[in-house]
Amino acid sequence: MQQKDRDRIVEVFDTTLRDGEQTPGISFTKEQKEAIARQLDKLGVDVIEAGFPISSKKDKEAVKSISHLGLSARICGLARLLTSDIDACIDCDVDMIHIFVPSSEIQREHTTGMSEDAVKEQTREMTEYVKSHGFQCMFSAMDATRTELRFLRELYRIAEEAGADIINVPDTVGVSEPFRMYELVSEIYKVVKVPISIHCHNDFGLAVANSLAAVKAGASQVQVSVNGLGERAGNADLAETVMGLNAIYGLRTRIKTEYLFETAKLVERFSGVQIPVTQPVVGENAFSHESGIHAHGVIKRSNTFEPGIMTPEMVGHRRRIVLGTHTGRHSIEKKLSEIGMSASREQVEEILERVKELSASGKKVTDDDLYSIAEVVTGEVAKHERAVVLKELSVMTGNNLIPTASLKAIVKGRECKSAQMGIGPVDAAIKAIQDIIKGEIGGDLQLKDFRIEAITGGSDALAEVIVGVQRGDRVVTARGVRGDIVMASVEAFINAVNRLMQG
Ligand code: KIV
Ligand code: ZN
Repeated sequence: MQQKDRDRIVEVFDTTLRDGEQTPGISFTKEQKEAIARQLDKLGVDVIEAGFPISSKKDKEAVKSISHLGLSARICGLARLLTSDIDACIDCDVDMIHIFVPSSEIQREHTTGMSEDAVKEQTREMTEYVKSHGFQCMFSAMDATRTELRFLRELYRIAEEAGADIINVPDTVGVSEPFRMYELVSEIYKVVKVPISIHCHNDFGLAVANSLAAVKAGASQVQVSVNGLGERAGNADLAETVMGLNAIYGLRTRIKTEYLFETAKLVERFSGVQIPVTQPVVGENAFSHESGIHAHGVIKRSNTFEPGIMTPEMVGHRRRIVLGTHTGRHSIEKKLSEIGMSASREQVEEILERVKELSASGKKVTDDDLYSIAEVVTGEVAKHERAVVLKELSVMTGNNLIPTASLKAIVKGRECKSAQMGIGPVDAAIKAIQDIIKGEIGGDLQLKDFRIEAITGGSDALAEVIVGVQRGDRVVTARGVRGDIVMASVEAFINAVNRLMQG
């Protein structure tokens, strides 16, 4: 029997590799799927929906190999109410088979052409088929939120009687809203004893809110995807849903929330779908502050202008004080103190004015920009020599060779060399600098942010690269501008490193 109390653990069912991969334009390689599955397991999801085995040979192979990775999460495969689909899942050695059938009148009429009776009969038969082969069975009435409640109740009861271990309520076209969702799941909760899962699409931006409402009404599992990937506007976002459950409802999941940010970044990289800066929890700006009033408040006490019930540390993210047109005095003073620079009140005002001017001209103001301005205004030259000075860089790239970079630099007065391979020439060059620095300065410098923009048009465009480099708990941003992307990247990285060495 389900518990409707606040102590229960809400299960997380991740569908990044199934519904997420149905995002128009996305196709993960088998290796990427395995890496995502491992990351989801590290994150602590309860179920990984690894794919739809009957849909392609490639999907089937990937589901099978994920089933054999030895993960703690249960592995699930998707199937229509057809023995061929279910057999394909069985061949993949999954733990759970997720069977689904269109249940709303509009979908029945225009997709399968099945009558209500035929749907009921197939539901019973195919649920029994899955169970007779010894697999866990999840049953979904597709388009549940547009299905007549009378029919939905009957269907879920049939699935339960036939042995389904869990039933799923999909808001397939994302048309529900939290109050309606609460009522619907409450009604279903009255007629079934097996756990209820919820699967919400985001057509009106309500997928997370609807999932939370469903949990409030008794659902004990949420179906989510990393970065909200999925059909059309996507599915309920994993990070938002989990943090909503944890921080707002005070409910527990098995998710190790400190891995949420790195999980989002991994899927961003593999999917090529960039996380919007304003994305809750994992977006670049989720814990960033620019305006003077906010930054001042947060520097004093973080929960003045952050939720407090969710901190960057909880989700593996970081807080940033960003420089721009709205920056205030306190942000400048804090950043200068981090590298041991001091400035009089008048000098701070002057620095502030110049930072705002730079920002108003359309430039992103990096920490390196701020320090350069401060050096000019205070007349205080850097306390240390530049720790890293680039001497030579050559890169080789092409269609038939692995990109390789050879680099020579003076690091703290000593000449160092390294040659590294990478995914592309920029990656190879950054790896070469990291290699040199690791030997001379210590291995704790990490590239956190990397953005390339062309600031003029055409193939001879000037490339502007802005990086964030982390050392310990400090991150410094810096820029490189060159006609050559690799050089701009290396310049930005070295500028950031040199500033970090000043701290
Ligand atoms: O959105 C949906 O209805 C689905 C089903 C397969 C559960 O993805
Ligand atoms: Zn879906």
